[in-house]
Amino acid sequence: MQTADQLFETLSRLRFGVDEENLRAYVEGVMPLVEEIQDLKREKNAIILAHTYVPPIILYSVADKVGDSYGLSKDALAATEDTIVFSAVRFMGETAKILNPGKSVLIPGTDAGCTLADSITADEVRALRRQHPEHVFVCYINTTAAVKAECDVCVTSSNVYDIIERIESDKILFLPDRLMGANIIAEMAERGVQKEILLTDGSCYVHEEFDPNLIPSLRESYPDLYVMAHPECRPEVVSQADYAGSTTQMFRAIASMEENRNYLMLTECGLVSRIEAEMPGRNFVGTCQLCKYMKSNSLEGIRRVLTSPREEDFVQIDPSVLEGARSCVDAMFRYAE
Ligand code: 13P
Ligand code: SF4
Repeated sequence: MQTADQLFETLSRLRFGVDEENLRAYVEGVMPLVEEIQDLKREKNAIILAHTYVPPIILYSVADKVGDSYGLSKDALAATEDTIVFSAVRFMGETAKILNPGKSVLIPGTDAGCTLADSITADEVRALRRQHPEHVFVCYINTTAAVKAECDVCVTSSNVYDIIERIESDKILFLPDRLMGANIIAEMAERGVQKEILLTDGSCYVHEEFDPNLIPSLRESYPDLYVMAHPECRPEVVSQADYAGSTTQMFRAIASMEENRNYLMLTECGLVSRIEAEMPGRNFVGTCQLCKYMKSNSLEGIRRVLTSPREEDFVQIDPSVLEGARSCVDAMFRYAE
């Protein structure tokens, strides 16, 4: 656990816009809550998994594992504690429960939705399967357990292109992200892979906001600019990026690059904060975007689910969908590794 001084030091590297005095007062004020959560974790035998996009205070004070949706799924599968507190959004908690159903999985976010996961229902997938019986149904991990149970293979932003390429069939229906779907079609063309790829109409409200027209003018102003984009961005954005990948892949890529360089990060602001905190020296231009669902996580929410969880804070998966959803996620691990 970080001391108040260490936490202050880490948070002071972020461009919060908070002056030193106020940041010091904030850290001192929050330490009793951090210590209470650390005690609760031991008492309840709980592990806290946190996505890179949640507020930085969670990442640097109480989280046991931080990562992207793929890495955190593997952490959830490997967890031996009785309780997993999944500080992210609900579909990630559902994936943890699918993979480790004997554990209690708690969701501390007060608004833990996701515009992608909320864009399609299991009934809609069943109807699509009747219309396209020959297609392999590939779902993004940003889907509910019930939707996963209707699909054949799940993917994340870290493995989507390789898995689509490796699937034996040349007929794929990818859901629910139409922008990632357009990026898949472009990447398959680039790789010379011939497949018919059908799409549905979801999108991430955070990543679809990035404007492709801004990139050329920023490149003109900053000739050394390195552009990184999440594959949920529009294809007109991803095609102009120097690197596209999951949050952890972008984090690792930047770790291997020069420090004194200008970067444009076309993703949620949490990734920029992590890089500022853990790899100071990089300069960021342009703006990132906030996900209100990820940012609905808080230390208070974590304490609440560890002390007095309500029924809706527990992830419950209908037993009738558990097996189908597990086989969809297991197929991802088989294709990915
Ligand atoms: P990652 O797999 O990169 O964590 O992405 C999940 C997500 O929701 C991005 O918006
Ligand atoms: Fe969903 Fe977009 Fe938020 Fe990721 S950033 S959790 S895809 S709404």
